[in-house]
Amino acid sequence: MVISPETIKLQDCKLRQEPKSILMCGCDYFDVIDSKNPFMNPNINKVDINLAKHQWQELYKLLTVLGIKVFVLDAVANLEDMVFTANQVLVGNNASLGNYVVAANMKYESRNREIPYFVQWFKAHNYKILNEHYANESVDCIFEGHGDALWHPNHELLWVGFGYRSTKKAIAKVPELIQAPVITLELVDANFYHLDTCFFPIDENTLMYYPEAFSKKTNDIICQYFKNLVVVSRKEALNFACNSIVFNDTIIIQSGNNNTVDALQKLGYKTAGIDVGEFMKSGGGISCLTLWVY
Ligand code: ARG
Repeated sequence: MVISPETIKLQDCKLRQEPKSILMCGCDYFDVIDSKNPFMNPNINKVDINLAKHQWQELYKLLTVLGIKVFVLDAVANLEDMVFTANQVLVGNNASLGNYVVAANMKYESRNREIPYFVQWFKAHNYKILNEHYANESVDCIFEGHGDALWHPNHELLWVGFGYRSTKKAIAKVPELIQAPVITLELVDANFYHLDTCFFPIDENTLMYYPEAFSKKTNDIICQYFKNLVVVSRKEALNFACNSIVFNDTIIIQSGNNNTVDALQKLGYKTAGIDVGEFMKSGGGISCLTLWVY
């Protein structure tokens, strides 16, 4: 059952061990050939593949310099979105299940074809696959992994967005699979079609987010759980400011988000800016290109 927010307190959630490594996927076949979200415009916004490869390499380098172990999955021809590793599975760990994944069921067929390559990788790394048959679910049972599902830092509490990709029907199955509570968040602006485009929990008390991407009711829930809120402007939210990741106390953020960076530095965080603009043409930023793994 999806837990209603009134009944779950953060203090009651079990503690969770944070993963310290990242899985990326090569970008050899990355392209924008259709329009799955408002950023994708194959006729106007063509991808410069050499620049994309350079940006991917710079991101990889930055992660390793920061001390993150990065695994790389080989790209597969005709899977132009496979580089966005945040979507194909949900990754978790707890005492009874050990390391596990829940395989996604993507809205778009081309993206569903990416999933077996990820499941295979996680099997090879001894993860439990909690739902081998999830992909046989009905068309209204969509779950897009960490595009829409973000763990509360250090806690067994999962935030899941719905409205554009993941559906409430699919999300309802998640708590039982992962044996942890889930709070759902309603997305109301198509530019912020995945939760990780507008919601970035930095630590257990601090959330960076773009409030207007969420319904009023969802905004009220968010305020109940995070003491410190870093509000991002529409301009910087559209520049993927919230699609950031954090390691120790360094926040890795798309370049050009100067107001957000100032706000973060005032709060004592270090920041590392990097440009993944070619991938933004596909509606994906830093968080979409990186999957935290154990
Ligand atoms: N073009 C991809 C899609 O629309 C982008 C995925 C971005 N991933 C993310 N985690 N937000 O599916």
